[in-house]
Amino acid sequence: MLEPTRRLRPAPVAPAPAVPGGLAERGAAPRSTLGLPPGSIPGQPGPPSDERGRVAAVGSSPDEFEQPSSARVYDYLLGGAAHGAIDRQLGDELTAARHDVVALVRENRAFLRRAVRFLLAAGIDQFLDLGSGVPTMGNVHEVIARSRAGARVAYTDIDSIAAMHGQQLLAALPTATYTAVDVTDVEAVLSAPGVAGLLDLRRPVGVLAFSVLQHVPGDAAGLVASYLSHVVPGSALALSHYTTDDPGATDRIERLTARYAHSDPRARTRAEVADVLAGVDLVEPGITWAGEWRPEAGRPPGPDDARGHWAAVGFLR
Ligand SMILES: C[S@@+](CC[C@H](N)C(=O)[O-])C[C@H]1O[C@@H](n2cnc3c(N)ncnc32)[C@H](O)[C@@H]1O
Repeated sequence: MLEPTRRLRPAPVAPAPAVPGGLAERGAAPRSTLGLPPGSIPGQPGPPSDERGRVAAVGSSPDEFEQPSSARVYDYLLGGAAHGAIDRQLGDELTAARHDVVALVRENRAFLRRAVRFLLAAGIDQFLDLGSGVPTMGNVHEVIARSRAGARVAYTDIDSIAAMHGQQLLAALPTATYTAVDVTDVEAVLSAPGVAGLLDLRRPVGVLAFSVLQHVPGDAAGLVASYLSHVVPGSALALSHYTTDDPGATDRIERLTARYAHSDPRARTRAEVADVLAGVDLVEPGITWAGEWRPEAGRPPGPDDARGHWAAVGFLR
């Protein structure tokens, strides 16, 4: 288990551009900006830390740069700025193995935005985001900032580099935190200062698990049930999950993603994803491909073959 951390107060870094209208949605080819905190790169001065050196507590070490990470590869594919050469290399290999990988991650992130907007409209104003990745490129705090004053989000991720980037990016925002923690350790997640200090679990919470549970090889249904047991009726679950149900999926993707740090990828079938969602009442249209979940009116449909994630939203009875 990684120890929960508080926000760092290092020197500000330029945030990555945000969507909509950012690189990802415009389809610009991102290349080689390394938006990581100063000192995050082996050979450079040590990472920023607060007075108690909490960077060490999130587990960052030069080793983390020797393996690609899902958070950083995903950031690269979305057009973000928080990745390194090793992440770009794997991102390029993934794109070569499956031509629609970029479309697929964009569809997933677009589903995230639609699901969060839907939940805000339904009255949910606090979110626990599990496996958040780098919180840029149209992520939850950007959506809620446009929709509802005072809504809040507690981001969490096992990736300490994503967490450092997030902590710097969100340092001035009182309605968002970022905690480095393993999603499989429910108690650690819920008791982390960034979560317990921000969210009021006596009121409904939106539990968000976008494209993360495929990195959890064990009992994902049991894990989600455990989170749901800690939130009150009226809370919601929004989830997307990578699958190999689509004929476009190739074994090569699974072999490549096995190189991620902190991960033992496990694609699940629609039936397995339905088990994970068993504790909530799904809203229409139930479980669909991410790009087909309540698409925005007038938006051109995504590529037919960008069918990598099952997606659904439901409410706790
Ligand atoms: C594909 S990214 C998804 C990012 C974001 N949720 C989204 O959908 O846009 C998967 C994220 O899950 C995180 N992750 C993988 N295993 C995890 C674990 N055991 N605990 C917490 N986060 C984890 C990765 O570090 C990565 O940031």
